[in-house]
Amino acid sequence: MLPSVLQPNETDHVPVLAEEVRRMLTVRPGETVVDGTFGAGGHATLLARELNGSGKVIAIDRDPSVRPYFERFRRRAGVQARLLRGDFSVVLRQLADNGVRADAILLDLGVSSMQIDRPERGFSYAADAPLDMRMDPSADLSAREVVNEFSARELEQIFRRYGEERYARQIARAIERRRREQPFDRTSELVDAIKAAIPAPARFGEGHPAKRVFQALRIAVNDELGALEEALPAAHEMLRPSGRLAVISFHSLEDRIVKRFMRDLERGCTCPPDFPVCVCGREPELRALSRKPIRPTADEIAANPRAASARLRAAVKT
Ligand SMILES: C[S@@+](CC[C@H](N)C(=O)[O-])C[C@H]1O[C@@H](n2cnc3c(N)ncnc32)[C@H](O)[C@@H]1O
Repeated sequence: MLPSVLQPNETDHVPVLAEEVRRMLTVRPGETVVDGTFGAGGHATLLARELNGSGKVIAIDRDPSVRPYFERFRRRAGVQARLLRGDFSVVLRQLADNGVRADAILLDLGVSSMQIDRPERGFSYAADAPLDMRMDPSADLSAREVVNEFSARELEQIFRRYGEERYARQIARAIERRRREQPFDRTSELVDAIKAAIPAPARFGEGHPAKRVFQALRIAVNDELGALEEALPAAHEMLRPSGRLAVISFHSLEDRIVKRFMRDLERGCTCPPDFPVCVCGREPELRALSRKPIRPTADEIAANPRAASARLRAAVKT
């Protein structure tokens, strides 16, 4: 019997845009599905159902705590299933290089509810815990190193770029001052420093004053944008002709990376726009399955507020 903290819980993570993902990926029996962000296996369960007893699911996650969720999934999936632990950018590249091919690939980016809701992981500004934020607890870099060792300038850039934090400079300087006295060790210490660094009215503005800094640190600690940039070409390479790729992002920087990647492969030709005829000869390699990103409905957001910023983009390999 697993200790209760490791017991999978039915309410742990609600898959976002679930019906839309199912529609875009149109999984058919006999196919190979790759879920690059397995989490609690919510999407994987829906997609495995479409396989109807024949096919394969390859699940990937860099967080080892998904294992009990995967074991539960495997017992119920009714199809062959494997869990590969690691960063999807690395695992997808290895699979592609080894000739493994897929018919449908899903990336549901960011953190899971289980990661945020387990205070000891240090993702949440709402609970006091060690400053950690690593999705892979064996990774070298944690939020503690970033906060204590990165220069004030680097911190400012991280807060501004990944968190769109207006008071990025003030917060970075306040962190630098405070860590000279005593290094940061816990999330509550960082929350206090952020609150003290921003003007009083901003402390009561939109959402929690530490929300944007915590998001920015999490993106930096886990190199989330770098992993996505590397994963997309590997995922594309893995797809069979007519294979489908779907990506759910929660941040405009992620969405921009996905949009640009899909647009480039849709266009094919890389000749400068002022060339009268194409000389590169490149053909389109992807076709977008919807012009605009797909957003959750108001009903979905009401039922699951974490879906609010989700955007789904999907494309088929031509
Ligand atoms: C939003 S959750 C996915 C939830 C899942 N779709 C479900 O329905 O339960 C994101 C998951 O992806 C994992 N993850 C995020 N970035 C990753 C990466 N670069 N490589 C591997 N796993 C990653 C996280 O550890 C987390 O478990």
